[in-house]
Amino acid sequence: MKKVRLGFIGCGGIAQFHFSHYDKMKDKAQIVAACDLIPERAKACAERFGFDEKHVYTDYKQMFEKEKLDAIHICVQPGAHDGMEFIAIDKGIPFFCQKPMTLDLKYAKKVLAGVKKKKLITAVGLQCRYADTFDFIKSYVGAKISRNEIAMLSAYRLGGFPMVWWWRRKEQSGGQVVEQTIHNYDLCRYLFGDIVQVQSACRKGVITDIPDNNVEDASSTIMTFANGIIGTFNTGCFGNGPGDINVYTRKGKMSIGLGGNYRIEEPNQVFTGSPSNDYGFDCDQTFIDAVRGEIDADEILSPYSDAIKSLALTLAINESMDNGGIPVKPAL
Ligand SMILES: NC(=O)c1ccc[n+]([C@@H]2O[C@H](COP(=O)([O-])OP(=O)(O)OC[C@H]3O[C@@H](n4cnc5c(N)ncnc54)[C@H](O)[C@@H]3O)[C@@H](O)[C@H]2O)c1
Repeated sequence: MKKVRLGFIGCGGIAQFHFSHYDKMKDKAQIVAACDLIPERAKACAERFGFDEKHVYTDYKQMFEKEKLDAIHICVQPGAHDGMEFIAIDKGIPFFCQKPMTLDLKYAKKVLAGVKKKKLITAVGLQCRYADTFDFIKSYVGAKISRNEIAMLSAYRLGGFPMVWWWRRKEQSGGQVVEQTIHNYDLCRYLFGDIVQVQSACRKGVITDIPDNNVEDASSTIMTFANGIIGTFNTGCFGNGPGDINVYTRKGKMSIGLGGNYRIEEPNQVFTGSPSNDYGFDCDQTFIDAVRGEIDADEILSPYSDAIKSLALTLAINESMDNGGIPVKPAL
């Protein structure tokens, strides 16, 4: 089977993560073109993957026009999605888009409508879902939910403050919940089902040493799940630390880490587990295998059609925290 001819739009930090996977997937996929507003970044990609500089672009429209691509990765910052998905849809090119896929839910809904119309294969970079412990965790949690044994959960994440220029501007990044904690909120949805209402408060003023910063330092959110479970989520970028979801039942407790570690405490036993796979690699390989037709596209754990619900959830949290903690129902 022929190799997937891949193009990249955005060759910054997260693109390096994908590149490290394509270094190890040369039998299945070949990066043949790259675009970045900073040409040196796209040139570095050309050098790394051995293609000529005539396939390096600063304008993605030209890349789409000139290259024959089987799939693309969209790795631009959240505020920079300005139409690339629609060209991919028009041309029928499957795409892997980084989270958060935009800060404008109307834009995302329009993308989804096009994707559905063309039955296009898509993936979103919510790679934590691919940790191989989640099969077990999901079935354990699922059994407890079906017996109505889970009352509540409490989650937290301290994510640190990424120093890329756009992160500190909420209109570019979406703020911490949308840009960063979306991974953890996505796992809440993945394991416990959809969230129907959020109420959120935030604070600023702890981070004083980063100029031009308008992102909240921390937020606390109350979540109501469709199945009746209630939960709280505390998250901040003022410090670095781990994060996990703690789940409480009448007779036990379970802690689930973002990277798929878990610890279950039951009356007579404690059991723990850690993932054995490289879930970031598996996320990219699943997309490529689907594009190659080797697996069904349903095996992609985070297609655009599902990731848009996590995007809508985090945007609803922003809406609540920006409006004095009013209850907001996610728009999807
Ligand atoms: N899945 C994950 O765990 C994860 C981790 C980090 C970042 N991300 C996401 O990846 C995205 C990018 O983050 P990053 O850290 O790589 O940022 P970055 O600033 O390092 O890279 C973004 C790149 O996109 C380029 N770019 C912007 N607009 C462009 C355009 N119109 N055409 C071509 N290139 C353009 C920029 O020049 C820059 O090089 C963000 O949405 C971020 O949330 C995901």
